[in-house]
Amino acid sequence: MAGDQGAGGGVSAPIVALIAAVARNGVIGAEGALPWRLSSDLKHFKATTMGKALVMGRKTYQSIGGALPGRTTIVVTRDRAFEAEGASVAGDLDEALALAEAASRAAGADEIMVVGGGEIYAQTIGRASRLHLTEVDLAPSGDARFPTIDPMFWREVSRHKGERGSRDDADFAFVEYERRQGLTRERSSPG
Ligand SMILES: NC(=O)c1ccc[n+]([C@@H]2O[C@H](COP(=O)([O-])OP(=O)(O)OC[C@H]3O[C@@H](n4cnc5c(N)ncnc54)[C@H](OP(=O)(O)O)[C@@H]3O)[C@@H](O)[C@H]2O)c1
Repeated sequence: MAGDQGAGGGVSAPIVALIAAVARNGVIGAEGALPWRLSSDLKHFKATTMGKALVMGRKTYQSIGGALPGRTTIVVTRDRAFEAEGASVAGDLDEALALAEAASRAAGADEIMVVGGGEIYAQTIGRASRLHLTEVDLAPSGDARFPTIDPMFWREVSRHKGERGSRDDADFAFVEYERRQGLTRERSSPG
């Protein structure tokens, strides 16, 4: 895949991290949109992803409506004719992660950010080393979910209660998980 960055440079491969806002019942989306308004979380998302490479499914790309400024956007789709202005298009996740790795190395970024949606999280959690989750204190109905976080594989390393503002529909907390060392298979990952 990506070539050596040179002797003694100490450049290590970027890790794969998932970032998601997840309701108490695991729901992340409904009918192609977010099932809540959480302005504070959008700010957190922007700050956490800025300067990094983002991998997203075609449906999430369309729900966002375009590439996000200051970040490299990589859209995964099986549609070979799909065109995404300001973004790269990948035909599978291996290709998407390779493009993201190259962009991350070029930018000196230490994390590849997988930004959803449900299909893409389910297929990448088995390759991830870190989860940046916003726990949303709601249980809405929806059709997209985050995979179950198995404590056998994941260790919570930080938790900060968010400060709910006037443009936030619910209370929320920013929670980070790290993969327990040496454990690389998830029940929820197909491959
Ligand atoms: N709460 C959050 O943090 C958050 C974050 C992101 C998204 N969301 C929500 O999640 C929902 C979207 O999630 P979703 O699961 O429906 O869709 P998605 O994961 O965004 O995109 C699914 C699409 O990705 C492509 N795809 C999936 N696996 C692939 C593979 N292995 N190789 C190539 N292409 C692949 C396919 O595109 P083609 O059909 O074009 O082939 C598939 O239809 C929306 O409601 C959105 O608002 C929530």
